[in-house]
Amino acid sequence: MPTETMPRLFTPFSLAGVTFPNRIVLSPMCQYEAVNGHVQPWHLAHHARFALSGVGGAVLEATGISPEGRITPGCLGIWEDGQIAGLAGIVALYHGQGIPVGIQIGHAGRKASTARPWDGAAPLGPEGPEPAWQTVAPSALPHLPNWPVPQALDEAGIAGVIADFVSAGKRALAAGVDFVEIHGAHGYLLHTFFSPLSNHRTDQWGGSLENRMRLPVAVATALREALPAAMPIIYRISAVDPDPAGITTEDSVALAAALKAAGVSLMDVSSGGIVSGSVRLSLPQEPGFQVPFASRLREGAHIPTMAVGLIITPEQAEEIVAEGRADLIAFGRELLADPAFAYRAAQVLGHPAPETVLPRNFAFYLERRAPLLAHLDSENGHYTRTNVRNGG
Ligand SMILES: Cc1cc2nc3c(=O)[nH]c(=O)nc-3n(C[C@H](O)[C@H](O)[C@H](O)COP(=O)(O)O)c2cc1C
Repeated sequence: MPTETMPRLFTPFSLAGVTFPNRIVLSPMCQYEAVNGHVQPWHLAHHARFALSGVGGAVLEATGISPEGRITPGCLGIWEDGQIAGLAGIVALYHGQGIPVGIQIGHAGRKASTARPWDGAAPLGPEGPEPAWQTVAPSALPHLPNWPVPQALDEAGIAGVIADFVSAGKRALAAGVDFVEIHGAHGYLLHTFFSPLSNHRTDQWGGSLENRMRLPVAVATALREALPAAMPIIYRISAVDPDPAGITTEDSVALAAALKAAGVSLMDVSSGGIVSGSVRLSLPQEPGFQVPFASRLREGAHIPTMAVGLIITPEQAEEIVAEGRADLIAFGRELLADPAFAYRAAQVLGHPAPETVLPRNFAFYLERRAPLLAHLDSENGHYTRTNVRNGG
């Protein structure tokens, strides 16, 4: 296939030993359907939609490195070996289509122990079938004033978190994933260590930028030692706290550079999720609002990036990649709305053979349907065969 006519969104991209066939990646999205952290049929149904959709990669949802590291009781877990087989089932769906798949491993910190979004996302109560558990954080500061006060982690607790990340990484490897994504964003544990808004420690884990970067870097270093060199480690960062007293983009450039030195291959660039006082902070949610951060980290830390956040059209995604602002594009809600996004993007962007982004079981028929459609006229949503004699 002539590469000069290939839209950039559909060119392959390699990271360590893994090649993404195109730049469209399923963003990690919690499904809240796990039972004791275990994969359920829902997860298989959910991922089958995307495994057959022509995406170039997928990241499994935030998966707890420990039971208390889950956001909700419905979150996936990777804290015991019995959870590996279910995850391997999801991995097989993607591998059957030649799509690399990773898993986001994380600890929710002081934002753990909450109800599912559709049940209000508030802290769980002490009673009921899904009782609250003790949350942890760098400092005993609640996420919001009326939320439970987390326990400040001591040295042993911090060492335990690093060890849990390593065990989770090894289980991810056993489940067959191609890469691991460390969840360092959205107000969860690693983000709360990085941000001065939530980290008020005075020991080696808090205070200066270097100290606040220490835990994210320690986790990446430990994982790098535990995983094969060919397996990329990705880090999802909240690049800014939208508060002048919080993380700045330049702080995030420094963290990205340190993570790169520790063996991280790519930064997945998000933002927000932390609070300042009683204010929930977020940036104006405009299309591509986080792309400038992906671009800045890519340029400032010389590390590949994945852009995410309200990237909704093929043209927008193509432009981001073609202009070198990010290497991969993660799509969340747009793929939920339209699992056929990759095929649509291939058509819209002039891919020389759009059907080939889909499995041959679909492509075979769609390729043969294309000339038929070309001879149809459409008016008000109704098709007629008026010009069929012009071509067959
Ligand atoms: C249902 C849902 C679940 C999500 N779960 C996660 C998650 O597990 N980990 C994460 O880092 N982000 C999560 N996000 C954020 C998305 O990965 C993505 O960054 C965000 O939705 C913005 O991208 P979009 O505009 O393409 O949806 C979730 C978003 C949605 C809609």
